Amino acid sequence: MKITWESLVPSCCISENPKPKPKQSKLVTKQSSFQRISVSDFSGSTISEDLSISLAGSNLYVFSVQELKVITQNFSSSNFLGEGGFGPVHKGFIDDKLRPGLKAQPVAVKLLDLDGTQGHREWLTEVIFLGQLRHPHLVKLIGYCCEEEHRLLAYEYMPRGSLENQLFRRYSVSLPWSTRMKIALGAAKGLAFLHEAEKPVIYRDFKASNILLDSDYNAKLSDFGLAKDGPEGDDTHVSTRVMGTQGYAAPEYLMTGHLTAASDVYSFGVVLLELLTGRRSVDKSRPNKEQNLADWARPQLKDARKLARIIDPRLEGLYSEEGVQKAALVAYQCLSHRPKARPDMSTVVKTLETLKDYKDISTMTFVYIAPADQHKQSPQRELLNKRNTNTKTPHKKLTPNSPLHNDFHRA
Ligand SMILES: Nc1ncnc2c1ncn2[C@@H]1O[C@H](COP(=O)(O)OP(=O)(O)OP(=O)(O)O)[C@@H](O)[C@H]1O
Ligand SMILES: [Mg+2]
Repeated sequence: MKITWESLVPSCCISENPKPKPKQSKLVTKQSSFQRISVSDFSGSTISEDLSISLAGSNLYVFSVQELKVITQNFSSSNFLGEGGFGPVHKGFIDDKLRPGLKAQPVAVKLLDLDGTQGHREWLTEVIFLGQLRHPHLVKLIGYCCEEEHRLLAYEYMPRGSLENQLFRRYSVSLPWSTRMKIALGAAKGLAFLHEAEKPVIYRDFKASNILLDSDYNAKLSDFGLAKDGPEGDDTHVSTRVMGTQGYAAPEYLMTGHLTAASDVYSFGVVLLELLTGRRSVDKSRPNKEQNLADWARPQLKDARKLARIIDPRLEGLYSEEGVQKAALVAYQCLSHRPKARPDMSTVVKTLETLKDYKDISTMTFVYIAPADQHKQSPQRELLNKRNTNTKTPHKKLTPNSPLHNDFHRA
């Protein structure tokens, strides 16, 4: 359940009498000295015109509602990709005639649901951050629309959707171990880029549904609606309302509202656990002590035998034991309750880089049982999963009615 920003924070960026927005779309042009601007720079009554001036240099396109309707075939249900707290997302296609310099490409168009749980503030935060941050592991924002009360965003289309869908959707094919590690590494690089930027960014909503995948399973972070500029000068943290998603948010952040890059590192640890175990960060359908993934799994990560019991059974033993242990150790460190004991994201990246070399080796043992009688049927092969012999609890599949989102306070 999400609580909107709008209900708690005055909509700081809409003038009381919004002027009609220009219908004609345009490309925000470059300016020579470009410094990243912050959401706080938009404390006045800002209209779309001001936004496009402020984001000059970002190469964002400003679209009209009419253009986005054409692109998505009037937001047709056949183009529907999914829906989060912001509103529905539709696939669309930009043709090369739409705008000079804008190549023909598929896009994902996110439409702010005016009755939804998120609002203009998150839309603006997304435009400001993603409009200015460019990296191979951040989803590319192509443009936006701010016309009267309408707020839309157009992104590069990510053909494999979200990690959440890939890992947990009912009929999804299980991701191989090496693919899981590739995704973890890509997402870690995205976070490291944010944390190490000249003006660091705390992402604040790191979770499986916000990690999008291209056709080669390159991971890109999306949804910057909750992102924050990191602490400046001697400040050790940013004080905020507690926002994020239950099961992913760091315990000290939940307790104090003090936000640091280490809060993102904790959330990264939770996603790494989801990749290791194939379990959701919060799963109310499980027994009480297993419902919160981090609380349940962390104590089992450093013991090889316990670890073997919590690895995703859908991997069917196809992973490198050493690789799994290394990844589990990273997760263990990221999930420390002492934020200072957590590694920084560049250290995580370095460790995960080394896991690329491990192949999806079968950890199962094939036992050849010679036929007792030569004339009987052909030799049998018995597959014994020695490692998983103690795994009595089968992996519970979630029903379609299970909660997908465990969001709290979107204040
Ligand atoms: N650029 C994109 N390319 C392809 N699919 C996308 C893209 N952006 C979003 N989607 C899909 O749209 C759906 C909704 O995404 P959205 O980010 O709005 O919500 P969410 O992440 O599921 O929830 P939340 O509001 O908590 O972030 C997801 O299933 C996602 O896979
Ligand atoms: Mg999302």
